[in-house]
Amino acid sequence: MGQTAKIILDGNEHEVPVVVGSEGERAIDIRKLRATTGHITLDSGYMNTGSTKSAITYLDGEQGILRYRGIPIEQLAEHSTFVETSYLLIYGELPTEPELERFRTLLTRHSIIHEDMKHFYEGFPSTAHPMAILSSMIVALSAYYPDSLDPKSDREIHYTRLLSKIRTIAAFGYKKSIGHPIMYPRNDLTYVANFLYMMFAVPSEPYEPDPVVVDALNKLLILHADHEQNCSTSTVRLVGSSQANLYAAASAGVLALWGPLHGGANQAVIEMLQQIQQGGGDTRSYMEKVKDRSSGLRLMGFGHRVYKSYDPRARILKKLADKLLPHLKVQDPLLDIAKRLEEIALKDPYFVERNLYPNVDFYSGILYKAIGIPVDMFTVMFALGRIPGWIAHWKEMNEDPERKIGRPRQIYTGPTARDYVPLAERRKAAG
Ligand code: CMC
Repeated sequence: MGQTAKIILDGNEHEVPVVVGSEGERAIDIRKLRATTGHITLDSGYMNTGSTKSAITYLDGEQGILRYRGIPIEQLAEHSTFVETSYLLIYGELPTEPELERFRTLLTRHSIIHEDMKHFYEGFPSTAHPMAILSSMIVALSAYYPDSLDPKSDREIHYTRLLSKIRTIAAFGYKKSIGHPIMYPRNDLTYVANFLYMMFAVPSEPYEPDPVVVDALNKLLILHADHEQNCSTSTVRLVGSSQANLYAAASAGVLALWGPLHGGANQAVIEMLQQIQQGGGDTRSYMEKVKDRSSGLRLMGFGHRVYKSYDPRARILKKLADKLLPHLKVQDPLLDIAKRLEEIALKDPYFVERNLYPNVDFYSGILYKAIGIPVDMFTVMFALGRIPGWIAHWKEMNEDPERKIGRPRQIYTGPTARDYVPLAERRKAAG
């Protein structure tokens, strides 16, 4: 046995293994703790619990480091494309030229959804949130590809189907919501250009995606592509651990992402900035309200469970906003408000003491808005970016010989054993 830790319970000493990761992270392996001591560990919100070993993403929240398969996020954002980064996350290595070509061809060939699926859009009310539609459509894919239900089926085809079709599903939903005809994908376009085409082209005039926007969207999606064991990825792993199919697990991931404390924060940030703007742009008084705990307000797009320094993704996005908005000739007062809020927060003891810095959602909404993505689709964009990460984690989990169904325990705090009381004999408790 390598390094060990000692746990003393009721005067008895128990030796447990210490697991060391490739970056020197240490964990106390308590898998046998209950069997040997009768105790479990309690860790609400999994603040201190490693749910798995993983070789996909390394994140050091203290130093602000994020790497996919060892490669720094800054290098990937600068040099890679979303498709290449997806390959890296899913298969573990950057693709060679023929590997990339094959992957691209698969994504191109699997971009169209079954014609019958188009009818589903008719069934949703016009007010439906696009995340509800996205999750429903993703799980519906399992009905059209029933071989995905067999854990022994060829899985690679499902990775490419999901990665390719999610952008078609998202764009078709948008077209439906604004009453435009659906634009089918064009095989001569790259992954991101094709998405922009399906979103913004109309049959009555030619459309060529702007290469600067294509590049910006590639960067945005790369920055969202994985973030190790966050709420939605953990959900994908938990659902997948029951051997539920990939589409079911990814659909659950979309739902976990939707909440405003997770991926829904990008929509919440823009709504917050708009609210400040409509109130006259007074950032200082908004910050005072945030600090007043009784207001229940949070500075959306700030703070992170893991980052206790500046989120490296937010740094890249802030720079990108400074480049993209002038290119698109967009002057967005919300960007100025966001920068003012950041400036105040970085000097204010409330935020400094709590290590609250901008996260990926603080500037991403301003970029999506400049590109023309509607606000209620911002979290859909996050999901589009995160899909390769979810696939990579689902694959890693399924290939792990030590995998087990996810099943946390609990400390029960309810009533101890008592008898059933027939209805006629029940009395309301006094008071
Ligand atoms: N505004 C004001 N105060 C905050 C904020 C914020 N955005 N975030 C945390 N705090 C305070 C919180 O009130 C608490 O203060 P105290 O110690 O006095 O009770 C302290 O900071 C720690 O907060 P916490 O809620 O215990 O921290 P957590 O790790 O459980 O929550 C978080 C992390 C991201 C949910 C939280 O920072 C938050 O709600 N941020 C706003 C929502 C947001 O931007 N979410 C996107 C996260 S990044 C994208 C993603 O991966 O989903």
